[in-house]
Amino acid sequence: MPSREQNIANWSQYDWHDRGDAWSTGFGSSSMLWFRTILPRIFFFLPARNVLEIAPGFGRVTAFLLEHCERYTGVDITPKCVEACRERFLGVTKAEFVRNDGLSLDCVGDGSLDFAISWDSLVHAEPAVLEAYVRGLSAKLSPGGTAFLHHSNLGALRDPATGELSVANPHWRDANMSADLMRGFVGDAGLVLDAQELVQWGAPAAIDCFSWFHRPRVGEAPLPDADTLVHPSFEAEIGHSAWLWSNAGRARRS
Ligand SMILES: C[S@@+](CC[C@H](N)C(=O)[O-])C[C@H]1O[C@@H](n2cnc3c(N)ncnc32)[C@H](O)[C@@H]1O
Repeated sequence: MPSREQNIANWSQYDWHDRGDAWSTGFGSSSMLWFRTILPRIFFFLPARNVLEIAPGFGRVTAFLLEHCERYTGVDITPKCVEACRERFLGVTKAEFVRNDGLSLDCVGDGSLDFAISWDSLVHAEPAVLEAYVRGLSAKLSPGGTAFLHHSNLGALRDPATGELSVANPHWRDANMSADLMRGFVGDAGLVLDAQELVQWGAPAAIDCFSWFHRPRVGEAPLPDADTLVHPSFEAEIGHSAWLWSNAGRARRS
């Protein structure tokens, strides 16, 4: 939980009047979210020829991503979101938005993707969804192509004795997904895990994870095991970007 059906229901009735920008408030703005929190984590892979975004919503991250690729495909499970992106990016001929079943990547060609990303969306997805997308990416990524997925780690925060969650779940994270499960999905799919980062998002523990993994090139030498970075607090991680927006950026703030 949340299931794919619950995601469709939730995001269909959600009030999208700000296209999701309110979720960027803690970072300062969506620009600060992109430039300070997302871009430093993915700039190694940009610009890219062919980019996939899983679950773009109303295009909060897409607006920035589009400047760094030649071809872009966004797949989202919620029809309202696909329609909104088609409208928002009308005339951007390199971009295509597709509704999917929340599992499959059939709309992109095998071996065609140089970079795939999902931000702030699959945190609400069950392990089976992540497993399916990782398996799909193993076919769709080009050799050397990388994926960066933001997903839940709440499943790691269960009391070993009772199985109960040891923290609250106010942000609708999937309660079973974890960094360790992702590690297994990536290995089982024949992909290489490059790094994982555990972050706190309004909770007193690391409820979210960023995972980077790539499709190995033919003959690629084995790499050391992926490193995991655990941030001590949300404030420590992003406090500086909010300060920049409020202070150094105030003349341009809108
Ligand atoms: C919180 S919104 C985030 C949207 C966008 N990534 C952003 O950061 O503004 C969650 C989005 O994930 C989509 N979604 C949820 N589960 C999905 C799945 N299994 N496959 C594709 N899209 C999914 C929803 O339809 C919605 O557009």
